Amino acid sequence: MDTVCFWVCFFLLFWLGNVGFCYQDGFLSLSCGATADFVDSTNISWVSDSTYVDTGNTTTIDFIEGTSSSHVPIRFFPDSKGRKCYRLPVKNVSSVVLVRTQFVYKNYDGLAKPPAFSVSLGTAITTTANLTVSDPWTEEFVWSVNQDILPLCLHALPGGGVPVISSLEVRPLPQRAYTSGMEDFPNKSLRKCYRINCGYANGSLRYPLDSYDRIWDADQSFSPFHLSTGFNIQLSFNLSSIEESPPLAVLQTARVLARRDALAYYFPLDKLGDYYIVLYFAGILPVSPTFDVLINGDVVWSSYTVKNSEATALFFTRKGIKSLSITLKNISFNPLINAIEVYEMVDIPSETSSTTVSALQVIQQSTGLDLGWQDDPCSPTPWDHISCQGSLVTSLGLPNINLRSISPTFGDLLDLRTLDLHNTSLTGKIQNLDSLQHLEKLNLSFNQLTSFGSDLENLISLQILDLQNNSLEGTVPESLGELKDLHLLNLENNKLQGTLPDSLNRESLEVRSSGNLCLSFSISTCSEVPSNPSIETPQVTIFNKKQHDDHNLRTIILGAVGGVLFAVIVTSLLVFLYMRRKRTEVTYSERAGVDMRNWNAAARIFSHKEIKAATNNFKEVIGRGSFGSVYIGKLPDGKLVAVKVRFDRTQLGADSFINEVHLLSQIRHQNLVSLEGFCHESKQQILVYEYLPGGSLADNLYGANGRRITLSWVRRLKIAVDAAKGLDYLHNGSNPRIIHRDVKCSNILLDMEMNAKVCDFGLSKQVTQADATHVTTVVKGTAGYLDPEYYSTQQLTEKSDVYSFGVVLLELICGREPLSHSGTPDSFNLVLWAKPYLQAGAFEIVDESIKGNFDVESMRKAALIASRSVERDAAQRPVMAEVLAELKEAYSIQLSYLASCGHLN
Ligand SMILES: *[C@@H]1O[C@H](CO)[C@@H](O)[C@H](O)[C@H]1NC(C)=O
Ligand SMILES: *[C@@H]1O[C@H](CO)[C@@H](O)[C@H](O)[C@H]1NC(C)=O
Ligand SMILES: *[C@@H]1O[C@H](CO)[C@@H](O)[C@H](O)[C@H]1NC(C)=O
Ligand SMILES: *[C@@H]1O[C@H](CO)[C@@H](O)[C@H](O)[C@H]1NC(C)=O
Ligand SMILES: *[C@@H]1O[C@H](CO)[C@@H](O)[C@H](O)[C@H]1NC(C)=O
Ligand SMILES: *[C@@H]1O[C@H](CO)[C@@H](O)[C@H](O)[C@H]1NC(C)=O
Ligand SMILES: *[C@@H]1O[C@H](CO)[C@@H](O)[C@H](O)[C@H]1NC(C)=O
Ligand SMILES: *[C@@H]1O[C@H](CO)[C@@H](O)[C@H](O)[C@H]1NC(C)=O
Repeated sequence: MDTVCFWVCFFLLFWLGNVGFCYQDGFLSLSCGATADFVDSTNISWVSDSTYVDTGNTTTIDFIEGTSSSHVPIRFFPDSKGRKCYRLPVKNVSSVVLVRTQFVYKNYDGLAKPPAFSVSLGTAITTTANLTVSDPWTEEFVWSVNQDILPLCLHALPGGGVPVISSLEVRPLPQRAYTSGMEDFPNKSLRKCYRINCGYANGSLRYPLDSYDRIWDADQSFSPFHLSTGFNIQLSFNLSSIEESPPLAVLQTARVLARRDALAYYFPLDKLGDYYIVLYFAGILPVSPTFDVLINGDVVWSSYTVKNSEATALFFTRKGIKSLSITLKNISFNPLINAIEVYEMVDIPSETSSTTVSALQVIQQSTGLDLGWQDDPCSPTPWDHISCQGSLVTSLGLPNINLRSISPTFGDLLDLRTLDLHNTSLTGKIQNLDSLQHLEKLNLSFNQLTSFGSDLENLISLQILDLQNNSLEGTVPESLGELKDLHLLNLENNKLQGTLPDSLNRESLEVRSSGNLCLSFSISTCSEVPSNPSIETPQVTIFNKKQHDDHNLRTIILGAVGGVLFAVIVTSLLVFLYMRRKRTEVTYSERAGVDMRNWNAAARIFSHKEIKAATNNFKEVIGRGSFGSVYIGKLPDGKLVAVKVRFDRTQLGADSFINEVHLLSQIRHQNLVSLEGFCHESKQQILVYEYLPGGSLADNLYGANGRRITLSWVRRLKIAVDAAKGLDYLHNGSNPRIIHRDVKCSNILLDMEMNAKVCDFGLSKQVTQADATHVTTVVKGTAGYLDPEYYSTQQLTEKSDVYSFGVVLLELICGREPLSHSGTPDSFNLVLWAKPYLQAGAFEIVDESIKGNFDVESMRKAALIASRSVERDAAQRPVMAEVLAELKEAYSIQLSYLASCGHLN
């Protein structure tokens, strides 16, 4: 390798100094630790690396070579913790890039200890740079990018010293370059070992001769035979058949066989591995030689002919080799070869699923801490606090961090084997974990948990459960005995009492129960304690509690009713009537209207027969929601309706059915979907809504259900204003006030004239005077839209709707869904990704299809109110009325902008 050339180039950079810069054809050249930008002798612009890396210290090396001396900046990473990463922007996702890094030590620290460290690109650890062996050390990779950020990281090795870097270059390569012959190696990238300009001995060659700025090294000592002389013939070739586009200057020289019967190259390789070999041939001789091509003695191509004036390339892969010989065996005339590239194939580990990444990001966000969680959680090295098996996150430990509750996103970490949340200030019940079927160790000790909840019995793989030093009350649930693999149950220092279930009394299970009120396996020792009150005893708590809310209500219904729907309603009515006495603001006498015999609200009652006829026996499904399926129907008078059939298997939702019928029959607003009627027969609960032919906003934005019209910015603003009006009415205009709780694009429907209406109050919650400031409910939001503050407070408020609506606004601006499964992990979550851009007025993330057609001031207003709406801290979010006012302004600015350019649409 010609390191001298590197240095010459480097020094020239500094002589030339500051000349301003622009990017050549997508080149990105970082001078690590540099304080100023400059242009080098080949006109490549170099910039300081400081915006691409956020750790490390910088210094300069005083370097003397011959008569010249210079200062070379470097960056080094003395901090032993965390990933040390450059995050390289890639302009064109799904392209191939060349990444070149150079590491220089040159005893900058005076310790004369050259470091060794490993280097990763994307999720792959690619190599170990050992500066004892070579200083400077250069690495080059050919990488197929699939994300817009490519992380390049240095990883300290034990005893390996401080990683150091001096330059980093990214060069786009032709689209399909270096893919021929790689079909059997899907998830590999390439690390350069050799790139030889055959037959040329006068130094290495690069940009601008190679427009992709590959470095082609001189042909020196690779063959022990050294048989031939180089030819240098000025010919040009039609290169369109070679995807790699080798530079003409390289093809114009060749090593040509003379006198012997074979021309051979021998390449020592660093290590046993899989290698990729590209051979270039160009017919620069007046004859067309024919020869056999052999790799490590095997004929890989027999009777290959290089035609005069034609350029060709051959591609080979070799598995499990430690050295490489390439031989061209003479058949006729003089075999020749013009260039050779040899790459090691590096495994690219799979990426962690985007659901897991999103969940972890939300968890990081909910801690309020910067845990340094960026890029992929598992590869190249696992994030702090987690560990992985392959690309699966199997262990998470966040002890001693203030979490307050187990947020629903923990339930998305489906591969967890170990979860340690000890001393995280958890309160209330154990929840949101029931999906963790692989969980083996759960440590929730040293918290203030008060109830077992009902999740634990689903953790069928659980082996160790540590609940010591909590505030658990009541008795130990029988269901814990069903955990067959459980072998350690630590319940020490809680407030438990009563007898331990017999099912826990087995040899394979150690139960630690000291430090409780009175807890043991034998009844006699604790005889005064009432036996077996169920853990959630809702019948008892409800009447003792001062506050009543839907959550308790549901629990009552759940506890009290055994499956007959009608009984549920009767019970609910009784409860409602009971609660009416306690609540002053809402009068529940209207609830009696739910009794179908006296129904006198605006909505009409349909028979099941009528529904069947209207929907043509439930023929056409137009949507599915948490509530059930939605069918299109046609009433005898010709009116189209949307018929929502609930499919709940539990009785849990009976009250929300009543809730919905009752509420919706009263609420009439031009921006809220109105209820036409309902059917409540033979255990069927069916709601009949007005039908909106324009589909949902989600359909229109993302092209589901065959819809996709390009929504202009002014249309989007109009839709936002409409929806905000609807929500504002729910929050402030309706009586009782209502929190929607599931605001999202698929709950905003459009009519023929593109007026927007908000739908789906199945999850609505009335706000009563008594608990207007904090409403605790069973959360039923949609991932990506859910108020992050809910995780810490467990309370949904109007501000939660504002948050969800803010997400809708971000979708309108960016034209993408709240959780994405492509792009970089940092862009999975729309809020986390878009907010910083929008707050900075950086509108490059605006949906491509509206770019150039919006007034900047209008966009700025909308972007600002959207960013404020998704503030983590609910108190910082505006109220819906303010959101509406801002959107109206943005809308009218855009209207006058369009009027002024004369194309109002
Ligand atoms: C560098 O670019 C400038 C202007 O773009 C041009 O005048 C000059 O010839 C270039 N130099 C080289 C070595 O290509
Ligand atoms: C690196 O920088 C940090 C902060 O700038 C400083 O505290 C530390 O001493 C530096 N380390 C070395 C080895 O220069
Ligand atoms: C680096 O190379 C030196 C010299 O070959 C060797 O002694 C040392 O063990 C290597 N370090 C690593 C981490 O491989
Ligand atoms: C991205 O790469 C594709 C394929 O090479 C090309 O067609 C497209 O023009 C490139 N886009 C940009 C912005 O460079
Ligand atoms: C080698 O290159 C130098 C300049 O880069 C040139 O002056 C010299 O003539 C070249 N030598 C040969 C043998 O081509
Ligand atoms: C180059 O070769 C391709 C086919 O390989 C052909 O389509 C193209 O026309 C050729 N171009 C020139 C300039 O001869
Ligand atoms: C290659 O083989 C042909 C046919 O046997 C022979 O005529 C020719 O001299 C050989 N070339 C060299 C360079 O040995
Ligand atoms: C290659 O990676 C893709 C995406 O990460 C994955 O779906 C596929 O299974 C991998 N293939 C192999 C052979 O590992």
